[in-house]
Amino acid sequence: MERALFHAARGRGRTSPNPLVGAVVVSPDGVIVGQGFHEQAGAPHAEAHALVAAGARARGATLYCTLEPCCHQGRTGPCVTRIVESGIARVVASVEDPNPVVQGRGFAYLRAHGVAVDVGEAAETAIALNQPFFTLMHDRRPFVILKAATSLDGRIAAAAGHRTPLTSAPANRHAHRVRAEVDAIAVGVGTILADDPELTARGAYRERPLTRVIFDRQLRTPPHARIFSTRDAGPVMIMASAASSGRAEARAALEARGAEIEVADGTLRSALRRLGERQVGSLLLEGGAAIHAAAWDDHLVDYVRLYVTPHTLGERGVPLLQGRPFSSAELRDRRAFTLGPDTVIEGYVHRPR
Ligand SMILES: NC(=O)c1ccc[n+]([C@@H]2O[C@H](COP(=O)([O-])OP(=O)(O)OC[C@H]3O[C@@H](n4cnc5c(N)ncnc54)[C@H](OP(=O)(O)O)[C@@H]3O)[C@@H](O)[C@H]2O)c1
Repeated sequence: MERALFHAARGRGRTSPNPLVGAVVVSPDGVIVGQGFHEQAGAPHAEAHALVAAGARARGATLYCTLEPCCHQGRTGPCVTRIVESGIARVVASVEDPNPVVQGRGFAYLRAHGVAVDVGEAAETAIALNQPFFTLMHDRRPFVILKAATSLDGRIAAAAGHRTPLTSAPANRHAHRVRAEVDAIAVGVGTILADDPELTARGAYRERPLTRVIFDRQLRTPPHARIFSTRDAGPVMIMASAASSGRAEARAALEARGAEIEVADGTLRSALRRLGERQVGSLLLEGGAAIHAAAWDDHLVDYVRLYVTPHTLGERGVPLLQGRPFSSAELRDRRAFTLGPDTVIEGYVHRPR
């Protein structure tokens, strides 16, 4: 199963909205005879790759897979029928597929066709690997990663509305690589007004368009913002609310620049649901302080990644989470490492589910 998990992770950044899945076929005498992973949405599933590689050696073998094999006709055929046809004797899976069209039906089909099924091997690792997929399935919203660069004294900018570059070149490279893996990056309109960021994944390889999201209920985003000059990187969505109803001109100007405007009820939760409907499984919430605080208050932050830099900004600086109590020691599966002079501290806010 460790090998299957290793393969699963090879699809990172390419399978969304599908999960990362790996599969390994082991013959009765303990030899790996086939292995594979889901390489991208629409491409064959991990089990199909592993079974093709195994060929006739799949007969009587055990198939290890990191997620319940599918039983529905999607863009590719159902895996369970292939598994039965190939003569696999036993399936060992980490976890049930939470997708409502599967949810145990894959296992039931296999058992009904004489295949032994064991579920639960390395379940925690498999669930952690697919947090965007599980969050989308369970909560109908993206997995939210709160990202911030802070000074040593926990400030994200020198003063409200000031652009304050804090991180070193190695930390910036890391941040761009992370951007290349997620489905979407988001900021509040305050950050657009203060920093005018491009929000692209520069210097990092990315195969799919990157959705950029601005939480801007009153359509205060300036049509000349730099983000609109990067439309080839991916769509720009503005999450507005009824508070923008009198701003037809602003709306028209933003749409003329290519913005896609969604009107929700003004809460972050409903805006995230909208993104979930658009199959955004992972969202990097890059700031600023107000939007971070709103997400934190509504328990919408799943993971925190802080780039702690060696500078101090002092009393006038804008505090992370607008000064709400926060301790990185409370993050789960916490990791810390250095990038040049900066230290990354990251971890889950709650147990992966
Ligand atoms: N160090 C870092 O990592 C980092 C990263 C980003 C930004 N920054 C800094 O942070 C500062 C900007 O932060 P900020 O707090 O002024 O702005 P912000 O968090 O970027 O944006 C705040 C705005 O988002 C809008 N919004 C939309 N939906 C919301 C919701 N559900 N709840 C709350 N607000 C919502 C609100 O405007 P409406 O009510 O009009 O919708 C609000 O004024 C700048 O100085 C920037 O340089 C630092």
